[in-house]
Amino acid sequence: MDSIAVTGGAELRGEIPIAGAKNACLTLMPATLLSDQPLTLTNAPRLSDIRTMTTLLQSLGAEVQGLQGGQVLALSSHDLTSQHADYEIVRKMRASILVLGPLLARYGQAEVSLPGGCAIGARPVDLHLNALEAMGAELDLRDGYVHAKAPGGLKGAVVEFPFVSVGATENALMAATLAKGTTVLKNAAREPEIVDLAQCLRAMGAQIEGEGTETITVQGVTQLHGATHAVVTDRIELGTYMLAPAITGGEVELLGGRIALVQAFCEKLDAAGIAVEETARGLKVARKNGRIRAVDVVTEPFPGFPTDLQAQMMALLCTAEGTSVLEEKIFENRFMHAPELMRMGAQIEVHGGTATVTGVERLKGAPVMATDLRASVSLILAGLAAEGETLVSRVYHLDRGYERVEEKLRACGAKIERVAGE
Ligand code: EPZ
Repeated sequence: MDSIAVTGGAELRGEIPIAGAKNACLTLMPATLLSDQPLTLTNAPRLSDIRTMTTLLQSLGAEVQGLQGGQVLALSSHDLTSQHADYEIVRKMRASILVLGPLLARYGQAEVSLPGGCAIGARPVDLHLNALEAMGAELDLRDGYVHAKAPGGLKGAVVEFPFVSVGATENALMAATLAKGTTVLKNAAREPEIVDLAQCLRAMGAQIEGEGTETITVQGVTQLHGATHAVVTDRIELGTYMLAPAITGGEVELLGGRIALVQAFCEKLDAAGIAVEETARGLKVARKNGRIRAVDVVTEPFPGFPTDLQAQMMALLCTAEGTSVLEEKIFENRFMHAPELMRMGAQIEVHGGTATVTGVERLKGAPVMATDLRASVSLILAGLAAEGETLVSRVYHLDRGYERVEEKLRACGAKIERVAGE
């Protein structure tokens, strides 16, 4: 397993290109199952999660071709041979559950492995299943699989989510495009990735209104055609790299960044003493004069502070002046980066869903272990400013969501390299 070695201290200067959003691409790719016409996705990120989704779709008989080094994905499910999504693939990536809605909508049947939990929580899929049942699906949970049928096709329904779920909104939205009649999704997720999915489905002929608000209305159609769609910029990669110059000092321009994608996050950066300027090419980020100031953070569904930036923000606040309180309200176990940051000298107390961070002058490099995707990149960020060397092990977590992280940071002056593992 590879590791990444970071030697802290260098101020970062330069520019970092931001790729297409992993979490948009992972729901756009299964959308190909809704049509027998080709779907082309441009600005696709080159990540291991995308390769996993490719493998899953190919196991169903879909064609997925990576062109231009994987930045363009040419997909077609004209000759689907199976509606069985196997545990061996699904267990590697929860987003695999997003083939369930499209398979049911187009073929009236699906057999999808339950994803199982992951490091950050149990992450059940009951909201996905309840939504599809409301649309007439007959579901039988047996031997770790969802056996789903909709013999006469799905029917439009009013689906009220008890709490916001990104994935459940995506599964229900895709299924509704081919359901008979009208579907109304209430308390729907409002993330930019949902808006991006709706725009792609509309380009394929779907009739959707209200994406980006808490109520999405879909008029079912009998079939969808092909489309070409550009994946929206990755707001989580954007926020992550905005923290690099914030932590080290210096100034970095994030190409493709827009404030609208990270509004709540930018408000917290401003309070912490970070200047963010929107330019024609992206976002310029620099630390204002003096030390980072402590701020409190509560993670919420969009447009609130993103849970996927909580670990990275904690790394920044470890050396802030004062005490910060971070409340993680989306996942039940998303502070696994805290003990690793404490190995670097951070002062953090975790009680349930609340972490209290008392800033120290400077962290000290140490060997640390990545536990999940966002925790691993928070350790890299901490290492950029720490005294001495930080060695982050198990960086396969990192490669799921960040393309060539060491190259992007090295281009701005970071002392960072990948150490091949055995
Ligand atoms: C998506 O996961 C993202 N993944 C996550 O990003 C992100 O953290 C999350 O949304 C929240 O923004 C992808 O888009 C591939 P949820 P998802 O359904 O859809 C509970 C990353 O780092 N829940 O909004 O799985 C769930 O356990 C990843 O890129 C149920 O109880 O998230 C969680 O506590 C991590 N039942 C909360 O709701 C359900 O049926 C929000 O989950 C579904 C969810």
